[in-house]
Amino acid sequence: MCGIIGYVGAQDAVPIIVDGLKKLEYRGYDSAGIAVYANDGFSVAKQEGRLNALETRLEEQPLFGHLGIGHTRWATHGEPSDVNSHPHIGSQNKIAIVHNGIIENYKQLKEYLERRGVSFASQTDSEVIAQLAEYYHRGNILDTVIKVTGRLEGSFALGIMCLDEPETLIAVKKDNPLIVGVSEHGNFIASDVPAILKHTNKVYYLNDKEITILRKDGVRFFDFDKEELQKTPETITWSFDSAEKGGYPHFMLKEIMEQPKIMRDTINNTSASVREAMNELDITQFNKIVITACGSAYNAGFVAKYVFERLCRFPVEVELASEFRYKDPIVDERTLVILVSQSGETADTIAAMREAKARGAHTLSIVNVVGSAIAKESDICFYTAAGPEIAVATTKAFSAQLVVLYILAIEFALRLGKLTADDSDKLTAEIALLPDKVETLLSQVDTIQKYAASCVGYKSIFFIGRNIDYAIAMEGSLKLKEISYIHSEAYAGGELKHGTISLIEEETLVVAIANCERLYPKIISNVEQVISRGAKVLLLSNFENAEQNDHQSHILLPPTVDLFSPSLSVIVLQLFSYYVAANKGADIDKPRNLAKSVTVE
Ligand code: G6P
Repeated sequence: MCGIIGYVGAQDAVPIIVDGLKKLEYRGYDSAGIAVYANDGFSVAKQEGRLNALETRLEEQPLFGHLGIGHTRWATHGEPSDVNSHPHIGSQNKIAIVHNGIIENYKQLKEYLERRGVSFASQTDSEVIAQLAEYYHRGNILDTVIKVTGRLEGSFALGIMCLDEPETLIAVKKDNPLIVGVSEHGNFIASDVPAILKHTNKVYYLNDKEITILRKDGVRFFDFDKEELQKTPETITWSFDSAEKGGYPHFMLKEIMEQPKIMRDTINNTSASVREAMNELDITQFNKIVITACGSAYNAGFVAKYVFERLCRFPVEVELASEFRYKDPIVDERTLVILVSQSGETADTIAAMREAKARGAHTLSIVNVVGSAIAKESDICFYTAAGPEIAVATTKAFSAQLVVLYILAIEFALRLGKLTADDSDKLTAEIALLPDKVETLLSQVDTIQKYAASCVGYKSIFFIGRNIDYAIAMEGSLKLKEISYIHSEAYAGGELKHGTISLIEEETLVVAIANCERLYPKIISNVEQVISRGAKVLLLSNFENAEQNDHQSHILLPPTVDLFSPSLSVIVLQLFSYYVAANKGADIDKPRNLAKSVTVE
């Protein structure tokens, strides 16, 4: 969480930083701030609320400078307020910092400094970094940073300015993302590529425990032992447009609409790389697969469990990463642990990966953000080709994760001798058809929009399905609640009568997903049970003859094999959630209390 950006160069830092913060707002948006070096001191503007509150303040009281740092916050320690916003400056007004992460021993450090007469202005853990830096500073900022980082426990990506070196921006990374961008007019640090893509596509990815010193005309890198490092920049191939709304009212809608393309790209990129990687990996050495992830990525793993188990006849467990890391998991060198993550930076998923590795498991990741921690540390990484995803609620990255998981499952099944080459080819061909079918569904956007507009008044919306339809119902429910704030739960159709059915009444909508032919009559009985208790039903099904009446609406999905049907159901579920939220006037790209990249526990 939290987004940081910094600039040193020939141009005015303020508009560059504010524009960068707009691109980072998905990381947190309860307050924002900026500090620039000007007139022998720091000029600072910090403001609780969305970034536009800071912009208004900057219009009234403009700041100028060629060196600056900015921050958009997702509060962890201390409520969202002006004073708790970053940047934080030490009490001697000498060192300013922005921080993404958590300082776990901040209380001890704060007490240590308070005993020595330092007084603190905020309730944050981050302020301790600025105060400690001033306390240790003897004139050389690199030495100071090394000393400070040696005392910090926890995770941090930091942007730092020091009055003694007014042409220097210094940054550090440990367990939180940080990149360095270089351009002709100046150099940047940022939490993520979109923040600087307007200025440069030349990027250095920092590894953990690396420090960078940026000046107008150059960038240097050091480790925590002050050894200089040689690093090679990478060229980002995303276009600047991919991080812009492109005429859509929200990033979420734009990203939903991009899905046919990103699915095609992901299928094209992944098929060969999966085959290649599998040549190196003897999958018969494994006796179990554990998929672990958070949020929607967990739901993608839940879908994949059905696919892998059906095709491979191989036990697959799916675990929330936040549970897996602390449960003393039963994994060893005979376990393949699959990590699914859009950002590659989710703290719990990283910790789960490290726990799995420490126990000897082999790790395979499916990640969207190139160069992220999970991509780098896992034994094998497959990238989804979703491009930058900005809306907090994931859509296109989820769809890309699903196709990679399908492709992997087919390859595994083939190598385990559970699938003939012929059947594997048929399934692969079916995957290749999915993007066109998604396109067909997206062309029905008006019907879904109209239906969603009639659903704004529901207090509760339940999602039910059986087998793989249950797995995708979980994602439908999550999507709806995160952006529309309507209470929602997903249930396996057969479980309804064990509790949830008592909540069904007139003001309830049940979205039933029914693509498994074998189970169709069963889910239809569940539908009848809820209709007879007053619920309205939206049925998503590729079964053409499904009934439509006063109680039940039907959205027909294109046919495909049931194992891949989640890729089609989810499109309707995303559009449905989007339009319910849009009709409620919700802040769709930045839902309350959420952040896209959850880099804290
Ligand atoms: C947040 C996002 C979700 C995402 C989850 C996991 O909660 O809002 O959309 O699914 O984090 O993130 P990851 O980057 O690991 O996929």
